[in-house]
Amino acid sequence: MLCSPSNPIGQLVSPDTIRAFVEWAVEHKIHLIVDEIYGASVYKDYTQFTSVGALYKSLGPYVHFVWGASKDLCMNGFRVGVLYTENEALRKSISSATYFSAVSGLTQYALCCMLEDIPWRDAFFAESRSRIREQAAYVAELAQLHGIRTLNSQAGLFMMLDMRPYVHFRGDFPDLWERLVREAKVNLTPGSAMHMQEDADGWFRCCFMNVSRDQLKDAFNRIGSILRAPLPNFV
Ligand SMILES: Cc1ncc(COP(=O)(O)O)c(C=O)c1O
Repeated sequence: MLCSPSNPIGQLVSPDTIRAFVEWAVEHKIHLIVDEIYGASVYKDYTQFTSVGALYKSLGPYVHFVWGASKDLCMNGFRVGVLYTENEALRKSISSATYFSAVSGLTQYALCCMLEDIPWRDAFFAESRSRIREQAAYVAELAQLHGIRTLNSQAGLFMMLDMRPYVHFRGDFPDLWERLVREAKVNLTPGSAMHMQEDADGWFRCCFMNVSRDQLKDAFNRIGSILRAPLPNFV
């Protein structure tokens, strides 16, 4: 699996890197699924996003890509996913597997109307990009205010916060995530939950598009109060 643009780090994957993945997969006859669900949620350098489908005339039997309406169209309730594959056997088996969870005809019709209306679609994506960009800038500003470094990202509805300097009890209970949830009532995704291998303690993903600016401000104030609080006494 290659997530392009990436979740959780929100960065674009360059065409050269995508090509390297494709060539490696084809050479080893290993299936590569490129997840492009954040393809239209690129809010910085958005012209730089390249779909794997745009890099090759044909993807062949080993390379596939997926997309969905959940992120780019803010329509997670529609439960629509798209698989592009030239592998007939895979297409047939996915068709059977999804037989009992088919996307309704009405939903497909509504989505087609939206996507085929190019002026509407372009205006929607432009508005969406600008809202994400503004919110991301606000999150980075709040984080800086509370002494938290952020990872520079260009895409997605989230941002990685680096709170490693505030991790005092590596592996101990309660860890920073636990304190943020229990005391500050703020739920961030910890690095360990996103399979970060090294130095995961202290990295958190902040999902910022489903909350208002006031809620973000309040959340960062609470996070800040935990980070500045005197260390609890365990003895
Ligand atoms: C990278 C990525 N792919 C796919 C999905 C699946 O989205 P959904 O099940 O809402 O269509 C998600 C949801 O968080 C995601 O982050």
